Amino acid sequence: MSVAKKDYKRITVKTLVDMKTNGEKISMLTAYDFTMAKIVDGAGVDVILVGDSASNVMAGHETTLPITLDQMIYHAAGVVRAIDRSLVVVDLPFGSYQSDPKEALRSAIRIMKESGGHAVKLEGGKEVKESIKRILHAGIPVMGHLGLTPQSIYKFGTYTVRAKEDAEADKLKEDAMMLERIGCFAIVLEKIPAKLAQEVAESVSIPVIGIGAGNGVDGQVLVLHDMLGMTHEFHPRFLRRYMNLYEDMTNSISQYVSDVKNLDFPNDEEQY
Ligand code: KIV
Repeated sequence: MSVAKKDYKRITVKTLVDMKTNGEKISMLTAYDFTMAKIVDGAGVDVILVGDSASNVMAGHETTLPITLDQMIYHAAGVVRAIDRSLVVVDLPFGSYQSDPKEALRSAIRIMKESGGHAVKLEGGKEVKESIKRILHAGIPVMGHLGLTPQSIYKFGTYTVRAKEDAEADKLKEDAMMLERIGCFAIVLEKIPAKLAQEVAESVSIPVIGIGAGNGVDGQVLVLHDMLGMTHEFHPRFLRRYMNLYEDMTNSISQYVSDVKNLDFPNDEEQY
């Protein structure tokens, strides 16, 4: 059992703010199903993100845009059934919050009621301010997401580093301060220069969690299947692979195929 697990029985949004205040870094990983979430929660990860990256990782879409609210709820409900300790944050998918604040609130309420998740995350700054306020007024915790926001990929055109130019960096800083001011409990910063991310983390009192945003922030998030090396065609500089499961799984499955073909499986002990 990790030290962190002893310290915090159950992670809440307040725990995360306390962690920032105490200088304890926050660990966050994605999960999209019961079995993986059980392992992630048991290993002591503070926050599980049911990310709309499920659209890529679980469904094989090229972007995060196609995943639906119903599909996000299905993934999140499985994750929630698995956890004892982690805070579960669920992404509001593309199209479920951008058109108007009432729709955003309805979508967030469905996530909270039907999946049992503990908070929602949504992408964008001042463009979605009214939607965020509406959700917060209903008592639903909101995590912001700035920098590279994959739901806007067709506007950006590429997945390269964001906010390298002053104008975009200034807007990002303003958006981060606005998210704190209206009551978001944390912000994800994706793929921006480390110096800018650190500046943002130092200028707000809520936790800033980075992915491809350097080490000067309050915590880190990675996509589980990437850090376990289950995906193997994706090599961004920020990704540390802790395993090479793609190779290990391929070898194990090939061995099984060969055992079946050669009548090696099942053996005498593996039957009734
Ligand atoms: O959907 C996702 O996995 C995310 C992370 C990359 C932060 O939003």
